[in-house]
Amino acid sequence: MMKITMQNKHTSLIHIPVLLKETIDCLNIKSNGTYLDCTSGFGGHSSKILENLTTGKLYCFDQDEIAIKYLKRHFANAKNVKFFNQNFTGIKQFPEKTFDGIIFDLGVNSLMFDDSTRGFSYNLNGPLDMRMSKQTSLTAQYIINHYSKQELNNIFQQYGEVKKPYRIVDTILNRRAKNAITTTKQLSEIICSNTPGSFIRKHPAKQYFQALRIVVNDELNVLKQALTTSLKLLKINGILAVISFHSLEDRIVKQIFNNASKSHDIYDSNVPLYAQKKACYQLINKKPLRPSLAEINRNKRSQSAKLRIIQRIG
Ligand SMILES: C[S@@+](CC[C@H](N)C(=O)[O-])C[C@H]1O[C@@H](n2cnc3c(N)ncnc32)[C@H](O)[C@@H]1O
Repeated sequence: MMKITMQNKHTSLIHIPVLLKETIDCLNIKSNGTYLDCTSGFGGHSSKILENLTTGKLYCFDQDEIAIKYLKRHFANAKNVKFFNQNFTGIKQFPEKTFDGIIFDLGVNSLMFDDSTRGFSYNLNGPLDMRMSKQTSLTAQYIINHYSKQELNNIFQQYGEVKKPYRIVDTILNRRAKNAITTTKQLSEIICSNTPGSFIRKHPAKQYFQALRIVVNDELNVLKQALTTSLKLLKINGILAVISFHSLEDRIVKQIFNNASKSHDIYDSNVPLYAQKKACYQLINKKPLRPSLAEINRNKRSQSAKLRIIQRIG
């Protein structure tokens, strides 16, 4: 296992927090408020929230055991923070209208990418794992070696947005009939050798690895569940801020936020009439906030980030 120190050879910090100022500014933190960081990672956003609290409280979730161990050590002296090594769907354990602010900074942390043994990187050789939490059992290796041709095509089309994965899936099926495909390098080589043309702009394995990661961690379903719960957990005037990193995530955030901020027609059988029920939430930004060029230059991984913010008003 990779040793965790504040510095590692790939990044100046373990994980450089993305859109940090924008996220903290939008939370408008009250020093006695209660906050929830659903993806605390290596504590970039959590640290800034804590700095602004006096009697307030912060609750931190992360399903990555390594991140939670680090957080517990890093915040050992902070009395007003609690950690949960759980999937963020576990936030439903809180009672309604509990939080002044909730944040999600989705996806994987940089250490997961930089640690070859986690299997997230197509640039490093390691086992085809891709689990964010070792408590779960489905791995990318199982999917690649056991799912049917149709299932693999669907996964790469739906979650990797690859138009025609057929040749690569056929090669995977041929290879695995001889020997199990067990490493990121083997899979990456299959993808590269079956992708015509150069790939200066984007590595051809990127979308395939994204698709597998989404399925291994059931990322889109847990996001839908947790966002719906989060809206209910906000106090009046409370803020929910979500940073997403690819279009499938952002689409879910956008749809859930747009729906929550629309007034709805409801049928009142006593009158009987249709009445307008005013929305209980308002969008803070119609268009998502994006990192500045300076931030992208400092941290290439921020490039695709989008921050959407919604406030409870009723
Ligand atoms: C982009 S990182 C967050 C980094 C953090 N904001 C920081 O500044 O260090 C995303 C984190 O969310 C965690 N994560 C992703 N999906 C999760 C889920 N469904 N439940 C709990 N944690 C999750 C990952 O383990 C990862 O540590």
